[in-house]
Amino acid sequence: MRYTINWVMKMKIVKTIFEILLLSFIFIITIFGFIVVHEYNKNSVYLNDFKYQKTRYYENKIINKKIDELVKNNTLVSNNVFNKRYVCLLENNNGNYASYIYGYYNGKLLEIKDLFKNEDGYELFKSKVEEMLALKYPKFVKEELINNSTPAYDILENKIIIHYNKTELLKEINEDLYVEINYVELIIDNNNILNYSFQLDSNYENPNTYKLDPNKKTIAFTFDDGPAGEKTMRIMNALLDNKANATFFILGNKVNNYKETVEFMNKNGFEIGSHTYEHTSLPKLKNGKLEESISKTENNIKAITGKDVLLIRPPYGAINDYVKESLNHPFILWDVDTNDWLYKDKDHNINHIIENAKDGDIVLMHDIHEPTVETVEEVLPMLYLKGYQVVSVSELAELKGYKLENHHAYRSFK
Ligand code: NI
Repeated sequence: MRYTINWVMKMKIVKTIFEILLLSFIFIITIFGFIVVHEYNKNSVYLNDFKYQKTRYYENKIINKKIDELVKNNTLVSNNVFNKRYVCLLENNNGNYASYIYGYYNGKLLEIKDLFKNEDGYELFKSKVEEMLALKYPKFVKEELINNSTPAYDILENKIIIHYNKTELLKEINEDLYVEINYVELIIDNNNILNYSFQLDSNYENPNTYKLDPNKKTIAFTFDDGPAGEKTMRIMNALLDNKANATFFILGNKVNNYKETVEFMNKNGFEIGSHTYEHTSLPKLKNGKLEESISKTENNIKAITGKDVLLIRPPYGAINDYVKESLNHPFILWDVDTNDWLYKDKDHNINHIIENAKDGDIVLMHDIHEPTVETVEEVLPMLYLKGYQVVSVSELAELKGYKLENHHAYRSFK
């Protein structure tokens, strides 16, 4: 009996010791855990309070570690979580952008295509990006960005902003290169092509547009003696590809032979001016012939475009007080003369424009010569990279704060 009691007592003691050890172990582990969490948070709170106010931390330490790294480098510019599914961090390191997309719980680094339900959705997204780039940038910039730049993604609740890193070709450009893809653009037949849900803007307006900037260096291109069918068409296409505009001073007697060219000009927003009916020096026209040359030209153009013709470019730049007083129009001369009709040399034209054209200048060319077509195709990207916008005469006047007045002659707008 005694033996049995002793045995039971012993077992109780062993059990109690075991329980004490177990509790101590749990206690130590818990304390250790608290210390670890506390140390981590202490570090985070420090960074949160003093380095980057908007820093937000998550349940995954891989992501938080990256946030700490970017905050420490002072390069974190955006930090977003969506649907507790993905986290997207955007880094801007002196104009070099990088994005990090993580799975919310597992901290797995993902690619942009992982955010789409399927390959078709991702392809649609890529074509939207291309479409938006085409709206905002010249064709050569769009192609360079798609083919040679590394994009970084800022994924927000209502849109994705795509930042592009500048390539060697585009390094001269001062502004940031980016497009915004609003989710409104990604809803097809009421279907969401993404793996997460988002917010739709009710008053969506596409922000990816090319806009003239009054603070940018600006020059006007003018083309005389056309229209000339194929050559004029190629010049217009080059202008469109480069987000540029121009004024075409056309001859009244050529208009009906190139109706389609004039229609295209009008439809695509090019400015059409008068270069008289048959290229006669205006001071030589007397007895109503002066007014007739202008009105016949205007009538031919208006029959196609339905618009009044505002500007006159006098042939040979020949103008006198009588001409100025007789006609109710502004007269547009030039201050950069490429002499393209004389040299018929692309490189000469390009060098002349690059060396001489300055903010506010009007450049004279003729759309009837092949080297001039090639000049326009090559010089527009060069001018864009140098920070110029190329516009029509009326646009240049407006951007520079001029109101074009009848009976006045203009050489530039500075
Ligand atoms: Ni001429």
